[in-house]
Amino acid sequence: MSAPNMDVLVSLAKRRGFIFQSSEIYGGTGSCWDYGPLGVELKQNIKRVWWRDFIQERPDMVGLDASILMHATVWKASGHVDNFTDPMVDCRECKRRFRADQVGDMAWLHFCPATKGNKFTIPAGGPCPHCGATRTLCPECGKGELTAPRQFNLMFKTFMGPVEEDAALTYLRPETAQGIFVNFDNVLQSMRLKLPFGIAQIGKAFRNEITPGNFIFRSREFEQMEIEYFVNPNDRMDGRPADEAIHDTWIEACRAWFVRYGLAADHMKFHEHETAELAHYSKRTVDILYKFPMGWSELMGIANRTDFDLKQHSKFSGKSLTYFDEERKEHIVPFVIEPSAGVDRALLAFLLDAYQEEEVRGEKRVLLRLHRELAPITIAVLPLLKKRPEIVSTAHELRTRLAKRWRTVYDDTAAIGRLYRRQDEVGTPYCVTVDVKTVGDREKGEAGDGKVTIRERDSMEQIRVPLADLDTIFGRLMGETAWSEVAAAYPRAEG
Ligand code: GAP
Repeated sequence: MSAPNMDVLVSLAKRRGFIFQSSEIYGGTGSCWDYGPLGVELKQNIKRVWWRDFIQERPDMVGLDASILMHATVWKASGHVDNFTDPMVDCRECKRRFRADQVGDMAWLHFCPATKGNKFTIPAGGPCPHCGATRTLCPECGKGELTAPRQFNLMFKTFMGPVEEDAALTYLRPETAQGIFVNFDNVLQSMRLKLPFGIAQIGKAFRNEITPGNFIFRSREFEQMEIEYFVNPNDRMDGRPADEAIHDTWIEACRAWFVRYGLAADHMKFHEHETAELAHYSKRTVDILYKFPMGWSELMGIANRTDFDLKQHSKFSGKSLTYFDEERKEHIVPFVIEPSAGVDRALLAFLLDAYQEEEVRGEKRVLLRLHRELAPITIAVLPLLKKRPEIVSTAHELRTRLAKRWRTVYDDTAAIGRLYRRQDEVGTPYCVTVDVKTVGDREKGEAGDGKVTIRERDSMEQIRVPLADLDTIFGRLMGETAWSEVAAAYPRAEG
């Protein structure tokens, strides 16, 4: 299935409480986004499985949570003060700012002299079909001349303490990585680690992007999940320098992780950076690109940062940041392999890949086929009749019980068909329905069977199961057991 149009996703994200524009009641910022009740659950789930899979389950990984504000010299040493820049041009008339390398890729406004100055929007790169002119002025206002390109630093400046003076100047971190490098020795000594090992961190990063856009793809405040994996460059693996072999291992591990949680393998591809494209610290970088609606774009990067950062921080701080190689009896500066993923971009890709529209009994069904561990809600408990107090109380009790282990909601605000559709649209993998047969009918002297219906999102299959079995069933479903295997043990229920 091809990914949906971005507007469709933006609309669903707002309507169903995933993502809102920041400060919307004031007109919004367009460069920052707020995660709503379902968005925050999805985001937490992405971070939780990433942390579990790459840190908690591995013997060679530890975590860190460094502060966002750091000593200003960190950014001098890392090269961000001098190199973390984009070339930009300004319109002398409307004062808008553009990235110099992107201005030629924009459609442009043209007041055509051949048609008495009529206004046209000309597609990117093309000449005016009436007068043949190509763009020289501002693409937005069509009037102003553009300045020569100037380098613009993407770091947000701020001041520490009560006085706004140069001595107090620092920056909001543009990547989480530096917090790891400056703590390298603290972690090494406190945890008695042996190479190779990795330090991971999830946290906010800030970049004053000149052209934020494409929803949460490029914003000015975002979250990163980064690993700095330290390797002894003198070691060899498979007949190659260890850093190069381990780099390849991480590239494949990251690709496989996205496939595991739902991205179609053919919606991703690798991009090997050309020499001119490499960041100032990198020996080799491979990006994983995803087929976003605006075209193939970076989902994450996996770089070989060599010993650049540790050496720089050692030079600027005067502290030794080395590792003692017991075998060779020498101090070395480790090389670093850095898998760096954006949480927001991962979330966008998971949403796009999960989105599906289909026709069921003549009606459109919209569903998010989110992986069960990512879905914001795992189980929805739905009463078939909200006028029957026993049904409602049983459903509430069930929600309370299941919520101790899984994100479970109760909903009785519509008829059952509509409730199912609502849950499909937000990706809830399982609905549990409590009905008259569950609780029985006291007035008619009928006892309940103590069973409920579980409906699975993708197949829409329904099975009838005893209330007492639910914890075991969901424990298996949320583990490795397939729905078909669990469902085979119970009678089918009618839809
Ligand atoms: N420490 C290396 C580093 O920060 P990067 O390629 O600049 O490398 C890593 O960023 C990842 O962070 C990107 O692949 C992307 O997923 C995410 N990212 C970067 N800038 C972003 C932005 N402005 N908005 C959202 N995500 C961003």
